[in-house]
Amino acid sequence: MTMLARDLPLPADWDRSGLPAWTYHSVALLELEKRKLFRTHWQLAGHVSDVPAAGDFFTVDIADDRALVARGDDGVVRAFHNLCRHRGSRVTAERRGHCQRAFVCPFHGWTYNLDGTLRGAAQPQSFGALDRSKYGLKPIGLEIWMGFIFIRFENGPQPAVAQLMAHFAEELACYRLEAVVPAGAPSETVLPVNWKSVRDVDNEGYHVAMAHPALQDLYGATYFDQPYVNGVSRSEGRYATNRGRLWSVRAYVGLSSGPLWLAEDKRRLWSYFGLFPNAVLAVTPESVQFYQEFPLAVDRTLIRGAVYRRPDETRSDRLARYLAQRIDRETYKEDIQLSVWSNESMKSCGFDGFHLSDLERGVRSHHDHLRAVLPVMRLEKQPKETEVAALNEKMLQPAGAHTVT
Ligand code: FES
Repeated sequence: MTMLARDLPLPADWDRSGLPAWTYHSVALLELEKRKLFRTHWQLAGHVSDVPAAGDFFTVDIADDRALVARGDDGVVRAFHNLCRHRGSRVTAERRGHCQRAFVCPFHGWTYNLDGTLRGAAQPQSFGALDRSKYGLKPIGLEIWMGFIFIRFENGPQPAVAQLMAHFAEELACYRLEAVVPAGAPSETVLPVNWKSVRDVDNEGYHVAMAHPALQDLYGATYFDQPYVNGVSRSEGRYATNRGRLWSVRAYVGLSSGPLWLAEDKRRLWSYFGLFPNAVLAVTPESVQFYQEFPLAVDRTLIRGAVYRRPDETRSDRLARYLAQRIDRETYKEDIQLSVWSNESMKSCGFDGFHLSDLERGVRSHHDHLRAVLPVMRLEKQPKETEVAALNEKMLQPAGAHTVT
């Protein structure tokens, strides 16, 4: 079993610096991040309950790529590029919906079966001999783990999701995540910051005591982070029945206990499971949610998330979930401001980089994971934009095969 960082000894002289500021505003680096991170790492797309019936589908845009996830007539959930094989139009522009029999491309009308095979082209005689078997929707990698759908546009350095998340399987099994259902429509918000500034804030709990009154009131000093090891991280906060200075926290604690079948040690626990590079699965006694960041530009990030509930939710569970989401919304607003301020500083001549606390190892471990994939991020001085990709390739070569200063 993978040891997470809380279990590992902390060297007294660990490097407390973070990524250099240029990595937050380099267009050339962002292009590498899109190709080497977002295209090749597993992305949490949704849950099987988002597509309960044959013909149900949803779409998600991830950096430069677009995915269409659909359940076929045979009950199988598949993922494709949302990209028509004729000239690349979106096969559907909807975020989610139900397709009765076939997807019809809105550009010229090519039609695709629910399993992605090409049913037919409009005016097929105009293509000469068209081999339909060669023009189905392009499939992309998909894995279902505990009911959640993970997709990947290209194979990359990560193993299967089940292997990646194996450390958490036993802990999460008791939540019956396979059975949850959507608690509402997924959310999408655009923030005016680099995606890493959002993740930096979310990757540590050092700021909770100062910046998040409601979270501090809820679980206070019990909160701790286990930073990223082998692509996953974990954090948790526990609360007692007598907590709650704020009315919303007091009301939540009074209502929240989880279902009777939930293990006793999970009934007063909020836990967060990080998946490198950009996603978190957050579990409470009443609900489970995920949130993630996708870069739109060096200074624009799409935050996407969704909340799921148990199908047998009681009235008091629903109220508790509402109150938990209220606490989350406040926390999210506070985090946005922190992300903006942190991101702004990256362009200031006064910024000398991070000096991280022991309680911020989550930030450092995420940066270490980034540097393992994109070693050019180790360069303190910004390279020329035209040289970023080549330098990165050189730095990926075995030691001694090159010299970079
Ligand atoms: Fe889809 Fe032409 S691009 S039918």
